[in-house]
Amino acid sequence: MKEITMSSQFDDLARPYESTVASMAVRKHLEYPSYMEAVGELGGLAVLDLGCGSGVYSRRLRKWGAERVVGVDISEGMLAYARAREAEERIGVEYLARDITNPLEGPDADLDGAFDLVAGVYVSPYAPTVNQLHGLFRTARRALPATGGRFVTYALNPEAATQPGYYSDYDFDLVRAEPSGSRTVPEGAPLRLTVTVPERTFSVIAYRWSRDVQEEAAHDAGFTRLRWIQPHVSEEGLRLHGEAYWKPYLDCPHTLILDCTTGQTGTNP
Ligand SMILES: C[S@@+](CC[C@H](N)C(=O)[O-])C[C@H]1O[C@@H](n2cnc3c(N)ncnc32)[C@H](O)[C@@H]1O
Repeated sequence: MKEITMSSQFDDLARPYESTVASMAVRKHLEYPSYMEAVGELGGLAVLDLGCGSGVYSRRLRKWGAERVVGVDISEGMLAYARAREAEERIGVEYLARDITNPLEGPDADLDGAFDLVAGVYVSPYAPTVNQLHGLFRTARRALPATGGRFVTYALNPEAATQPGYYSDYDFDLVRAEPSGSRTVPEGAPLRLTVTVPERTFSVIAYRWSRDVQEEAAHDAGFTRLRWIQPHVSEEGLRLHGEAYWKPYLDCPHTLILDCTTGQTGTNP
């Protein structure tokens, strides 16, 4: 893959995204602990963080014990922020500019087969076409050794609620970007995700991919065992906010972990 950046809908969102980590209960008390649990021990591993954005998970993965972490993203603004943080904090993360949905043909000496784990937090929802979704999973598979490895990604739950206001208690809203009378959200439908952080409100466009389409992309890329994991709330999250606060979210989470493994057969329910 060659160095590539493009202006993107994320370019001026690095700081607001960083704010979501502290301000959004869903990120803090549900997404983060669930992801940590899913990836498990990282001691000595090499990790590639696809769609690393401002570097939130790249930095975390390194702090959780990964020996080598490489973050890749297409957004100039996100990469500039992530690199500036690295220059200041010296955590030991390398950031590269790549279009991860378009793996180039031919060998990519520095990335091919070089990682034990590929991470991808909220990146598959931003693949606008099935081809690009397949490209994303191929990029992940390509970074792992032929003998095996895992891609642990946060996907948009295709059954997420799209009624305006459903997630407003959680500081975001997810709605159909194109008006429609139908309750069924079609394959690839654009959704508008609007997030409120203390300093501002911002929106991005994501795409709804069914489980079947996501699983097919993973299988096509060579992942043989897939596991969908519903995130859970940490004890601290329950204590701070109470069960009633979390119930509507847990009844219909907007995101699910998709844990893709190579080298074994079978698909978990
Ligand atoms: C919602 S942000 C998530 C950032 C980070 N993983 C996090 O959890 O904070 C999605 C990121 O995916 C990146 N992205 C989207 N499409 C991409 C592509 N084709 N190639 C590389 N990065 C992409 C965006 O630039 C953005 O930084």
